[in-house]
Amino acid sequence: MLLALGVTIPGLDPFLGEEVKELLGRDVRGVVPGKVEFLATPEEILRLNYTSRTAIRFLILVSKEILDPINLESVKKSASSIEWSSFFSPSSTFAVRAERVGYHDFTSVEVAATVGEAVVEHFSSLGTRIRANLKRPDVVIRAYVSGNILLLGLDATGESLHKRGYRVFEHRTALNPVIAYSLVKLSGWLDSLPSDPSSVLVDPMCGGGTIPIEGVLAALRIPPGRWRRNYPVDHLSLFQGISQEEIFNREDSYIVDRDLNVLCFDISPKSIRGAMENAKSAGVYDKIEFDVRDASELISLNRISSVATDPPYELRTGRNRRIGETFHRMASALEEKLEHRFSAICAGPALPKLMAAMRNLKLVFKRRILYGGIEARLLAYERRGTGQEGH
Ligand SMILES: C[S@@+](CC[C@H](N)C(=O)[O-])C[C@H]1O[C@@H](n2cnc3c(N)ncnc32)[C@H](O)[C@@H]1O
Repeated sequence: MLLALGVTIPGLDPFLGEEVKELLGRDVRGVVPGKVEFLATPEEILRLNYTSRTAIRFLILVSKEILDPINLESVKKSASSIEWSSFFSPSSTFAVRAERVGYHDFTSVEVAATVGEAVVEHFSSLGTRIRANLKRPDVVIRAYVSGNILLLGLDATGESLHKRGYRVFEHRTALNPVIAYSLVKLSGWLDSLPSDPSSVLVDPMCGGGTIPIEGVLAALRIPPGRWRRNYPVDHLSLFQGISQEEIFNREDSYIVDRDLNVLCFDISPKSIRGAMENAKSAGVYDKIEFDVRDASELISLNRISSVATDPPYELRTGRNRRIGETFHRMASALEEKLEHRFSAICAGPALPKLMAAMRNLKLVFKRRILYGGIEARLLAYERRGTGQEGH
């Protein structure tokens, strides 16, 4: 067993923790915001790469230290204590990528250079020479500095897992699929399907369709790594002799086919055309109903089981009286017909308008997430007098 590190968008840690626990049946611990640790085999890390809907990447965690004081000397000492040669051979090239959160008197570039020096010196001490290659390395070491915590890990993912590969139409404010899936999860729709197969998921402001598509992929157990099927672990000794294809084929065998009620609406015909293209590319076009519709007309639906949506934040457009009215009309429909939950991500001037409109519903989840430099909120509401409080 290895100590693995799962990385996601800060704020989505509980979603990643829950998912890893569901997939591997193992306990997960938070390390720093956006990062969780757990035990896993190399095969399980590959399985997570292929099936996780909430992670951005997975690493083998080789070191976790609290450094006091934290400076380039203590970073060097920590990186020098690692037997790098037990993880990869000097015939591989490597690069160190560093990220830093907090106040420090050094930069992340300096952290990367310092860890890199320790790696080179480790191999020199064994009478060998390893080469760095910053553009196309065989092995990527990641150094995360958060306050006085230093995490060092070997990247087992490569390109971020949020790049699913099915998107052919890029909406100008396309949502990160990791957040889109988390909203579906939060809406209660996936949990309702076993007892209520005709449960209805609606995204009334669906843009390029990311939320409905992620919902269908999850309901049919289609692995989000299906468009990728390769992770750069060939140069890591722990992964030698493991067939990625075998692991992926096994996961593919769990895919199910069934009818679903997923509705994807937007006021913009261009967005709906794009959402259709994306759904076709993801192979789920026939599972989603698309329509050019105003979200204010939500009340016209027979059933509203769950709603998951990503409305405009009005960051650039400023004051738009119409969005407040739209939210109020959506809220009236939800007060009357919502069966499970309404979940949304919102930020900017639209956030207080959304929360004011939803005030007759019960707020059951509120969490701050940092997303593309924006401080956003994930919210979930239920009708008053239904369901259970909290999440
Ligand atoms: C932030 S975008 C959604 C992006 C989407 N989640 C994606 O990943 O592509 C918000 C969408 O709300 C739509 N919209 C704005 N007002 C609307 C209304 N009254 N009814 C329906 N859609 C609306 C916009 O056309 C836009 O596509």
